[in-house]
Amino acid sequence: MEMKKINGRNIYIGKTEVDLNNFLLNQLISLSCEAIKKSSKFVIALSGGNTPVFFYRYLTKEKHSIAWDKTHIFFADERILPYDDKESNYGLMKKIFFDNIPILDENIHPVKTDGGSQSAASKYEKEILNYFNLKRGQLPQFDLIMLGIGRDGHTASLFPNYVSTTDNTYLTCAVQASYIKYERVSITIPVINNARNVYFLVRGREKAEILRDILKNGNSNLPASKVKPKERKLIFILDSAAASLL
Ligand code: 6PG
Repeated sequence: MEMKKINGRNIYIGKTEVDLNNFLLNQLISLSCEAIKKSSKFVIALSGGNTPVFFYRYLTKEKHSIAWDKTHIFFADERILPYDDKESNYGLMKKIFFDNIPILDENIHPVKTDGGSQSAASKYEKEILNYFNLKRGQLPQFDLIMLGIGRDGHTASLFPNYVSTTDNTYLTCAVQASYIKYERVSITIPVINNARNVYFLVRGREKAEILRDILKNGNSNLPASKVKPKERKLIFILDSAAASLL
């Protein structure tokens, strides 16, 4: 992996899928060992979209590298669809990932999508508060949040100029925007910025412009630019095509 620093951000660039898989797996092993040593569990939030699928598939082949019984998986965002819809994040991850690793159902924390986005956002906030044993107003600390970036600079389901349809939740929000196909639920920027580690995983030439905008031009209005975990570890993991304008 090639390493670059742009405007204080740490960027890792992999030439091949094998490079990216090895790098991500090693990172995951080391973060999970560190977290389990400290608190006997490893708590992560994953994103949907197509980009991470190659790595989830790889992880099923390397399933013995991670202590799944001590790993808890939340979702950075979800689309308000039935789980059997092919665009459901949980549905896709269950099929390609969870069904192929030795993890208990109780360690997986999907967004409940059956009552619409507002109810899903508030139920998911409660789920997070209960799991971390927090009071309303306190922030959870995930060991790792893995995010993607959309061509418009969105991350999780936080879109540029997004309209949150709830203002009574802090950890999660219901999201509707005229240009997205279905309502969504997302964790919020304060939750992301309070994580111990945040990894952006971005691939493909079609993401090169937005990465240049975020990293080189310092466009600070984009949701992905607002991800700045203070004193914690933020890294960008890219393939050569996504990094081609950096
Ligand atoms: C989602 C996401 C979203 C995604 C980006 C990139 O559920 O859609 O979590 O933020 O990471 O849109 O998506 P691709 O990887 O499909 O390009």
